[in-house]
Amino acid sequence: EGTISVKELSDKLKKPVTEVIRELIFVGVMAGINQEIDFETAEKLCKKFDVQAIEKEEEEGAVEEDTDLEEDINGVKRSPIITVMGHVDHGKTSLLDAIKQTDVTSTEAGGITQHIGAYTVKVNNETLTFLDTPGHEAFTAMRARGAKITDIVILVVAADDGIMPQTVEAINHCKAAEVPMIIAINKMDKVGANPDRVKQELTEHGLVAEDWGGDVICVPVSAHTREGLEQLLEMVVLSSEMMELKADPDRNAKGTVVEARLDKGRGPVATLLVQNGTLKVGDSIYVGTTYGRIRAMFNDKGEKIKEAGPSMPAEILGLSDVPSSGERFVVAKDEKTARARADKKAESIRQEKFQKSHKVSLEDLYSQI
Ligand code: GTP
Ligand code: MG
Repeated sequence: EGTISVKELSDKLKKPVTEVIRELIFVGVMAGINQEIDFETAEKLCKKFDVQAIEKEEEEGAVEEDTDLEEDINGVKRSPIITVMGHVDHGKTSLLDAIKQTDVTSTEAGGITQHIGAYTVKVNNETLTFLDTPGHEAFTAMRARGAKITDIVILVVAADDGIMPQTVEAINHCKAAEVPMIIAINKMDKVGANPDRVKQELTEHGLVAEDWGGDVICVPVSAHTREGLEQLLEMVVLSSEMMELKADPDRNAKGTVVEARLDKGRGPVATLLVQNGTLKVGDSIYVGTTYGRIRAMFNDKGEKIKEAGPSMPAEILGLSDVPSSGERFVVAKDEKTARARADKKAESIRQEKFQKSHKVSLEDLYSQI
């Protein structure tokens, strides 16, 4: 079983040792600076600092810090991940369709996006990875998640409708995740399109357009006439180049589940976004309480692939169950290890549930006295 010393943990968390020791007391562990603590305890502590702990393979026996968008300083250039957000019906999917020059909206149920789709698009020599999110109010969690796994957000605002509730919500998610936004003022072809009104409303949320003296890039576009699309993509490429995004393709892959479903013929199918490393057919992965060996892998065009590098989405077959979107996946050294990790996670969830139900029943008891 992996352990880590309090000192090492504080280094990894970049928090003072005293703070780590204090937090340890709160989770019921009295420990000195050189004391080794077990993974479960380290994990609890990491949670407090909003860091996800991932246990390393046994032989290394330590805890690895794992943030959502980690930069790999030893890495090579990777493509940007761009999430398209905005209020329902403001034209997110249409805009992506126009960028891809295909037509996903017409195959969607009622034209409403139900899930995040992931697509790669080549612009000149750059590959861009796009995630589409639903604008419906029921999908707050997906928008929050989208903001977390992304480098840049394209915020779509319909020029004839302006800032609406889910626009504001998306702005707040981006601010919280510190993700830069590029505003696409869409539906410019429509009668009543008023980009100045959009810019005015943006200022009410602290976003001042460049031509109004601020630093927020606003591009008027139309998904229907394709007006402004080139400029929008140019802005995306420019912004991403300034970020100098990096990843290490030689590592074991990790990343996030974008969407997952049960397919009648093929079993659990999951779209994964690789955030670091390279994911390969035959890899054993675990994700939440699910695990499996990757049996087959497809790209966003439905073509069979053997591997997927950093920033690439891939649809995979071979999981034991359907994972939840937003969950992190990690490659383990073999299927046995992957299964052990998944089982451990299931066990800790069971315990947490038991403790909760236990607590409730005690409270119930008191309330009856
Ligand atoms: P959700 O996924 O449900 O949140 O919607 P969405 O933001 O993806 O919007 P979608 O692309 O489905 O477009 C909604 C409606 O607006 C459709 O009827 C589109 O044809 C229309 N639309 C989108 N972009 C434009 C545009 O540039 N001009 C005009 N005139 N209509 C547009
Ligand atoms: Mg849509």
